[in-house]
Amino acid sequence: MNQTRRKRRPDPSPPPLISPRVRNIFLLLTFLFVIYILFSYGTFRRDRFSSLARSLSVFPTQRRHLLFSIAASHGSWLSRSSYVRLWYSPESTRAVVFLDRGGFDPDPALPPVTVSEDVSRFPYNFPGGLRSAIRVARVVKETVDRGEDNKDVRWFVFGDDDTVFFVDNLVTVLSKYDHRKWWYVGSNSEFYDQNVRYSFDMAFGGGGFAISASLGKVLAKVLDSCLMRYSHMYGSDSRIFSCVAELGVALTHEPGFHQIDVRGNLFGLLCAHPLSPLVSLHHLDAVDPFFPKTNRTESVARLIRAASFDSARILQQSVCYDSSNTVTVSVVWGYAVQVYEGNKLLPDLLTVQKTFSTWRRGSGVRSNYMFSTRDYPRDPCARPLVFFLDGLGSDGTGGTWSSYGLHSVGNCRRAEAVEGLRNIRVLSRKLELNGEQMNPPRRQCCDISSPYNKSMVINIRQCMPDELIAMNT
Ligand SMILES: *[C@@H]1O[C@H](CO)[C@@H](O)[C@H](O)[C@H]1NC(C)=O
Ligand SMILES: *[C@@H]1O[C@H](CO)[C@@H](O)[C@H](O)[C@H]1NC(C)=O
Repeated sequence: MNQTRRKRRPDPSPPPLISPRVRNIFLLLTFLFVIYILFSYGTFRRDRFSSLARSLSVFPTQRRHLLFSIAASHGSWLSRSSYVRLWYSPESTRAVVFLDRGGFDPDPALPPVTVSEDVSRFPYNFPGGLRSAIRVARVVKETVDRGEDNKDVRWFVFGDDDTVFFVDNLVTVLSKYDHRKWWYVGSNSEFYDQNVRYSFDMAFGGGGFAISASLGKVLAKVLDSCLMRYSHMYGSDSRIFSCVAELGVALTHEPGFHQIDVRGNLFGLLCAHPLSPLVSLHHLDAVDPFFPKTNRTESVARLIRAASFDSARILQQSVCYDSSNTVTVSVVWGYAVQVYEGNKLLPDLLTVQKTFSTWRRGSGVRSNYMFSTRDYPRDPCARPLVFFLDGLGSDGTGGTWSSYGLHSVGNCRRAEAVEGLRNIRVLSRKLELNGEQMNPPRRQCCDISSPYNKSMVINIRQCMPDELIAMNT
């Protein structure tokens, strides 16, 4: 080709200094060299960038940034691991279980188990208390001291083996705080007397609490000296609280953590959850199953399944009114719907119905709680109609339907408008909470699609700017 071209149009330039063949090889080598430089520089940049981004919290907090430590004992672990199985997922949750002694075969559906260090050198002199409080308090230090295993951990989360966490909601809640600062996040007891006894400012251990990675590192260094100083205290959570206090840090109260220092029927408590994502439930063995005809594990599994459709919405309460029939409906998403005959005012419906009994038993125990309560009528006919969650699914476009079946008790005369009601279907969009929506949060509104007879359809939606949650009269 070259030769034919030269023949037609003679080349005026002098002959090249290097032959085209050598030049091509040279160009190829240069090309490869440039690619190599670009690639290695790129990798370097990427590493540098991601570590920089990590330290600047450019990336939002995710499930993998949380490390859960579960305090258990050899005696309780076998039965209570059935609760942990419900909320722990091996692919996305990081967790460690601390036992007093080993002897369990590894189970891939459960977090790895580790045996706590010997704590016999620490004094314990709370009369009638349990020495295990020291071991459980020291879980905090032993977790943080895991070193390299804690890469990328932003929050250390502590709970018992009978604590059930709603992990995505905990991620949402903790995202409000900067993990590079010192945070101690949790909640106290529902039972007033327990807070009098221990402290209003303490995160109760069973409800679970979270410690930012930076606070965790400091706390791990000083905890042993605190364990020497607070030998007169009863529990592990008092020891952590005291040590955190000595570091000058106070509790940040998050109402989604639930110690559940009550017994029996939790219905009233679950139906008046604060406007804050549900983070944890504890003392499951002391309360009745949440749903009729289920055992405790099945009940919790049903709540967790509902949360898998719309985590932030679980137990969130919306109230809507049917003014043509004077009917008031309270929807507690993912759990229960109550239908009241008559016009009920919102503040009354947001008050906890006292369906449960006190944590401590015996005469002289006052039923004083940390929230407003109202009586739950003994006569089932004086109560609203109650419907419990019996199914849910997605509509494929970000919407969720959930259905609630009538739980009928007693042979009550009901108003004509509601006497035929057997089922309620609730439609909602996935609740996406960003920092702005959480601070402060606003309750959502709902509409009853009329007419209804056997089945009522309710649509939950964002309220309009000046919309009031009240009966149109
Ligand atoms: C609860 O019910 C499930 C399903 O029926 C069953 O597998 C499980 O063993 C029960 N748990 C307890 C503690 O009875
Ligand atoms: C409601 O359903 C019942 C039974 O199916 C029927 O007899 C009644 O007429 C219906 N009422 C209305 C208002 O549709």
